[in-house]
Amino acid sequence: MIKVTNLRKSFNDLVVLDGINFEVKDREVMSIIGPSGSGKSTLIRCLNFLEKPDTATIEIGNVKLNAERCTRKEIRDLRAQTAMVFQNYNLYKNKTALQNVTESLIVVKKMPKKEAEEFGMELLRKVGLEDKRDNYPVTLSGGQQQRVSIARALALRPHAVLFDEPTSSLDPELVGEVLQVIKSIAEMDTTMIIVTHEMDFAREVSDHVIFMADGNIVEQGPPGEFFNNPQHDRTKQFLKNYR
Ligand SMILES: Nc1ncnc2c1ncn2[C@@H]1O[C@H](COP(=O)(O)OP(=O)(O)O)[C@@H](O)[C@H]1O
Ligand SMILES: [Mg+2]
Repeated sequence: MIKVTNLRKSFNDLVVLDGINFEVKDREVMSIIGPSGSGKSTLIRCLNFLEKPDTATIEIGNVKLNAERCTRKEIRDLRAQTAMVFQNYNLYKNKTALQNVTESLIVVKKMPKKEAEEFGMELLRKVGLEDKRDNYPVTLSGGQQQRVSIARALALRPHAVLFDEPTSSLDPELVGEVLQVIKSIAEMDTTMIIVTHEMDFAREVSDHVIFMADGNIVEQGPPGEFFNNPQHDRTKQFLKNYR
């Protein structure tokens, strides 16, 4: 489970998150949509303390902390609960696809190399890149690089995977293959939060959708209700741009 209570974050005088509350149950997928600048990235970066929240109670898996008075160990434990997939893949350029996936297993988990490689290959198979194990990122398409980064995120068996606009850097013809991989992972009962502008995808893959604007959750609900019958003018206006 992921449970966030009263998450507030400001950058100097700019209030970016103004008291956010939500819950994602185990094996559920939550999508976050909203205009640029509404605080979506800051929200998911706060979940693993890439940004430090000003206030929040954050519970992920078996770790629960209060952002105003937490220890380094609690932050470390919280970070270990999630893995991030970024817009720009962030792969190690001097490592092959397989090495990108196994690096954390070998370095962090101290897994023997052979075992790490076996698991790494299993993950590359899951994202359809078994045959690219020895390719360096520069020789892979954007879609393939993002699929490697998804395999890498799964390697440490996180409690939840956090995606921040995973297809926004991709050429349009490469978006589908990445969304398909994310969908297949969702179907394996992975708990996920996905920031996305792909509305059809969000509708299909999510159990719950949150619409953010100006640092607040304006509206949320199951995708059917949310997309078919939005209640707030702000949500209606936003969704209109995607029809
Ligand atoms: N490190 C930072 N320092 C100052 N302002 C920031 C920082 N990160 C984000 N912001 C501001 O916070 C607001 C929300 O940004 P962000 O979370 O990236 O929104 P979104 O992901 O929804 O586009 C924006 O006004 C942005 O300029
Ligand atoms: Mg963003």
